[in-house]
Amino acid sequence: MKSPIHNWYKFTAGFSYKFVEEILKDVPKDAIIYEPFAGCGTTLVSAQKCGYMAIGNEGQELMYDICRAKLNWSVEQSKVKEHLEQIESILSEGIQTYDVSAENTLLQELYDSYNLKVLCLIRNYILKIADNTYQLFFKLALSNVLHKTAIYPIAVPYISRNKRLMNNGQPYEKFKTTCLNMVNDINLQSRSFTEAVVYLHDSREINNSIDSDTCSLCITSPPYLNNLDYGEVSKVHTHFWGITNSWNDITQKVRSQLVTGATTHYKDAEFDIDDFMQTDFALHNENIVPELTRMYEEIKKNAKERAGKKSFHILMMHYFDDMYRVLLEMRRVLRAQSKAYLILGDSAPYGVYVPTTQILGEIALSAGFDEYAIYKIRSRGTKWKSLSNRHNIELSENILVLS
Ligand SMILES: C[S@@+](CC[C@H](N)C(=O)[O-])C[C@H]1O[C@@H](n2cnc3c(N)ncnc32)[C@H](O)[C@@H]1O
Repeated sequence: MKSPIHNWYKFTAGFSYKFVEEILKDVPKDAIIYEPFAGCGTTLVSAQKCGYMAIGNEGQELMYDICRAKLNWSVEQSKVKEHLEQIESILSEGIQTYDVSAENTLLQELYDSYNLKVLCLIRNYILKIADNTYQLFFKLALSNVLHKTAIYPIAVPYISRNKRLMNNGQPYEKFKTTCLNMVNDINLQSRSFTEAVVYLHDSREINNSIDSDTCSLCITSPPYLNNLDYGEVSKVHTHFWGITNSWNDITQKVRSQLVTGATTHYKDAEFDIDDFMQTDFALHNENIVPELTRMYEEIKKNAKERAGKKSFHILMMHYFDDMYRVLLEMRRVLRAQSKAYLILGDSAPYGVYVPTTQILGEIALSAGFDEYAIYKIRSRGTKWKSLSNRHNIELSENILVLS
């Protein structure tokens, strides 16, 4: 949260830039880095800062725009100031008459009416900026301010209505400070840099803009098998920017583009285990299918006894199927002798231990990697020990290294 540019956007699922920089230390400068889950751009920004070419995919439009803004260092302070002056005059003219009643009701609940007016007037101005560089820059700045001005914390990872955010007003002042801090951060960077590229693309599919055997290193953090719903995490922002307007929109425009990581991604009735056994994934991973089937049955049985009755057994199958496709594409993009580093967490849906990291290592072998190694970085899950319904299995967060 303190590192310039990395700290431009607060993202629940962001990971450590120090991890990326540590790996890059020993990597030749002509290496091209691949990042299939760009998120808020940690790998891409680190690569750009350290002088490497990097290519990434991100499935969410919101995060894709955030990445592009963080990678564009051609923004000039004088132009930022010009835009801020114009925004100030629009606010002083429009604040009395602007009507927020047409804004998404979620936004009306999360911001007081004056603050929402200011945020919307700034947004409407930004959406009319013709120069993409500046539009993305200001979009990111205002997205950041959305976190700081809501009545409740909105990304922990979901909206937390039982807490109030202290100091939640003054959207324009916060916006201006954010913009000026961002320009200062850019001014600290070298002016000659190789700009990383990011695509709005689903990493389960072949990205025709990236040739085979292009990259020699992958550093990434895929979604975990832990029911985190990225569509839900970003819904205040996607509603605000008009990307989504409802649950249905989130399902169709956001969730559908992402690795299945939450039970909200699919309809239980559409899953059939016999059909699943005929998928490419099941046919090419015969060595792990018996173990997956055992866990599937056990989770399904436990689900019947739980209040929420969530279909984590189906989620698990979709997750590994999706990740198989991601690993196939990763293998295609990477040339021989490459390494891939994936930060991953193990899982225990309804108390059934799923060695997610190891299973993905095995799947990687069938996707064309030669070998894998697992390094544990920390234990997790223990802070929930006090919850009566929670399993007491110690989970770990790991680095999966594929060769
Ligand atoms: C764990 S986060 C990655 C965090 C990233 N390392 C960072 O520091 O921000 C996973 C990201 O992958 C994206 N994602 C999930 N499924 C995807 C897919 N199939 N294709 C591309 N991006 C995807 C999500 O939107 C999310 O931003």
